[in-house]
Formats: sequence, structure tokens, C-alpha cells
Amino acid sequence: MARTKLVVGNWKMNGSRAANAELLAALKAAGPWGAEVAVCPPTVYLADTVLALQGSNVAWGAQDCSAHASGAYTGEVAAAMLSEFGCRYAIVGHSERRALHGESDQLVADKAKAALAHNLTPIVCVGETLAEREAGRTDEVVKRQLSAVIHTLAHCISQVVVAYEPVWAIGTGKTASPDQAQAVHALLRTQLTAATQTAGDMKILYGGSVKADNAAALFALPDVDGGLIGGASLKAADFAAICRAAG
Ligand code: PGA
Repeated sequence: MARTKLVVGNWKMNGSRAANAELLAALKAAGPWGAEVAVCPPTVYLADTVLALQGSNVAWGAQDCSAHASGAYTGEVAAAMLSEFGCRYAIVGHSERRALHGESDQLVADKAKAALAHNLTPIVCVGETLAEREAGRTDEVVKRQLSAVIHTLAHCISQVVVAYEPVWAIGTGKTASPDQAQAVHALLRTQLTAATQTAGDMKILYGGSVKADNAAALFALPDVDGGLIGGASLKAADFAAICRAAG
């Protein structure tokens, strides 16, 4: 199995031009790693990010993208625009967008399709809440979320990155145990295998309180191909240590 690992920093709504410049300069100096690395700053900072990271081993992406191509969608950003700024990735369906902005499985799938249409790799997030896990519904929930994307993208599903992010582990300091993570990742890979012959080449990232001290154990799991990192991606030393663990 020769899947290169991928580590993506999701800055969420954090940063400032000054803080970002420092963080990006430190990351640029810390690489290269034996893994692919990317950061997803708030959209308004993409132009600065392009200048800071051009020619480095660190790629960049967006935290979301519109399902629409253009038009009267105040506040939204189209995949074509992100593409113009050299984004390689667009996170879609993060649990914060699903929960706080009411994004449905179908909308997330439509966003993934819009991203692919402009050569962005969608990072499709799936994950159960604590209540769903305690009710024994984890498998059903993540399969339903992924199924909408598989249906909408058809054979193009092989071009996405999937991120399993248990909602109860995001920003809480509680990480899924290696057994819990591997079980869901294996389930997702099985579901992808039914949809595409190249599921074995697809990356499935884990996200949810990944830190420098737990990253290596998670990345060593057979179906974990890297991480989507929130809080720990805001500190250069922590993020660099996680990238090293993936190398
Ligand atoms: P966290 O966030 O690493 O701060 O838990 C992960 C995410 O939401 O992508």
C-alpha cells in the first residue's frame, strides 16, 4: 500500500495577517516532510498565503466552497475563484458547517462536485455526534453522509479525500482511540471500494484533537492516511511535529 500521507491544517476562523506570516514562514522553514502538507486559512488570507508559500512544499486550500458557479449568493466563494488563487484543496461538509449552517448531505455533495469541476480536491468530512455514537449509530451516520457524495460524484468519487472527524473529538481534547478510528476508516474504505476500483489509492484522513503526541499512533493505522488538524495547526512547532509523524 503506497498511499502518501496527507496532513491538512484547518485554521478555522483564526489568525491575523501578522500571525499568519509568522506561522507560514516557520512552516516553510520546517519542511520538507515525507508527507504532503497543506493549510486552509480563512478565505480572505488566501492571497497572502499564495505569496508566502509559493515555491514551498506546503500547499493551500479553502475551508469551504460554494455549490454554485457564480451569481447572487452573497458571502459565498466559488470554486473557480479558489482555483485562481492556486488552492489545491477545498474542505467541504465540516461538522461546524453542517451543524452551524445547516448544510445537508446533498449540499455537501454538490459542493464537492463544484470543487472537482475546478480541479480542487474536495476534502469531504463525515462524522457522528456523541449522541449518535452512544446510540450505536456511528456506522449508519457516516455511511449516509458518504453515500450522498458517492451518488453525486459517481466515478469521480475516486478523486476526493475523505476525512473522518467524530464530532465529539473536535476541539475537545478527546481523540478517537486507534481502534475506534481504524474501525470507521475501514468501514469507509469498504464503502468506497463498492463505488470505485481505486478505493485502495484514496486517502482517508482522521480529524479530531490530533496532537503531536497522538499523531504517530493514529497515522500508523492501516486505513488512516493522515490528518485534518484544527487547534494544533495554529502553532508551527506542533503542526510541524504532526507533519513529521506522518513522514
Ligand atoms: P481539532 O479540529 O484538531 O481542533 O479537534 C479538527 C477539525 O475540526 O478539523
